[in-house]
Amino acid sequence: MNSLKNKNIVIGVCGGIAIYKVLDAISRLRKAEANVHVIMTKDAQEFIKPLTFMTMSNNPVHLDIFDPVDERFVEHIHLAKIADAILIAPATANTIAKIANGFADNLLTATVLATKAPVILAPGMNSNMLNNPATIQNLEVLKSRSFKFLSTNSGFLACGDYGDGRMAEGIEIYNYLDEFFTKKDLAGMKVLVSAGPTIAPIDPVRYITNHSSGKMGYAIAKRAKYRGAEVVLLAGKLSIEAEGIDNVIRVDTADEMFEAAKEIYPDVDAVIMSAAVSDYKLENVYEDKMKKTGDDLSLKLIRTPDILKYLGEHKTKQILVGFAAETKDLHHYAKAKIESKNLDFIVANNVKSKDAGFGHDTNIAEIIFENGENIQLPKMQKVELADIILDNIKNLYKEID
Ligand code: C5P
Repeated sequence: MNSLKNKNIVIGVCGGIAIYKVLDAISRLRKAEANVHVIMTKDAQEFIKPLTFMTMSNNPVHLDIFDPVDERFVEHIHLAKIADAILIAPATANTIAKIANGFADNLLTATVLATKAPVILAPGMNSNMLNNPATIQNLEVLKSRSFKFLSTNSGFLACGDYGDGRMAEGIEIYNYLDEFFTKKDLAGMKVLVSAGPTIAPIDPVRYITNHSSGKMGYAIAKRAKYRGAEVVLLAGKLSIEAEGIDNVIRVDTADEMFEAAKEIYPDVDAVIMSAAVSDYKLENVYEDKMKKTGDDLSLKLIRTPDILKYLGEHKTKQILVGFAAETKDLHHYAKAKIESKNLDFIVANNVKSKDAGFGHDTNIAEIIFENGENIQLPKMQKVELADIILDNIKNLYKEID
């Protein structure tokens, strides 16, 4: 589900050094097939030429109320009407002050005053400007009027200071808008998603693990959150950031994942176990670093708890989804797991196939249901597969309700 497709996003660009990040956001929005219409203030044009924004947005850039791009329209009213959302980035202290006080002295502020669309501000400025009582008060006024904000980050500022005031990155702006426009069809559901590999320590410096990156589980957690579900991400050693997920429980071992899952389980409506949990651990973990000797070495491995099996045995209302990462006899192994773990459905993927499974952004999967029905899916992005998995969970949830 591409929430941004064909959406008209009007971007008001002000004169702040964070302006370069807006180009990245526009590039991402265009890849998602959104229509981007840029308004630049006079000061913004001192930083970057309109040509750059015109090329990036693939649309004419709007600069002046008295010099419209299209003579047929009263420009600010037209832009105010077509906007599905207006984003102001970087939102400077000056433009924030003007909007908070109802000014309409340039094309951007006039458009904001004339619109009924949601307005999202991404402030970017020096910490002292941000923390000035005047700016604080202006921001409060705008919050009370339902303007939305992308919070600033702390760090190195262009002026040489360290502190708060860095504008959100292009990816954060993009993610915000993606979430903003996603239909909240999972609102009211609470889901637990496990992701990534667990590790089986050998000694304080070594461990056994697998190639799982956590990308699939993260994609499910992200899409579930965007679709309005309350999400708990139970994360092993992810090789990616769990950006945007507020409730992340980090664990290392299968035992730790088991304990966390047991605790959360009674509260959730659905569990999606996409983690590649270690099936074995060392019987005795070495307390100190093992020293090499001239001899070969054998390690005795014992079973870890099968988390999903336990959850299946203690199922009350929960919809349970498992993953089967196999290298052969996919269908056969996957079906056996549905029964042995009491699952509602399983997502089976052959981790040996090209562009699928561990570490990739794409996956090729088959969904097999408890009643034997199955859906064979073509190669797709993991986020797309995440949506299909969540659609099926939603259908089952509706049946229970
Ligand atoms: O039986 P197998 O381990 O191959 O099943 C894979 C599914 O079971 C995955 O969903 C995985 O997250 C889950 N699993 C588990 N506990 C384990 C091993 C796997 O919950 N110890």
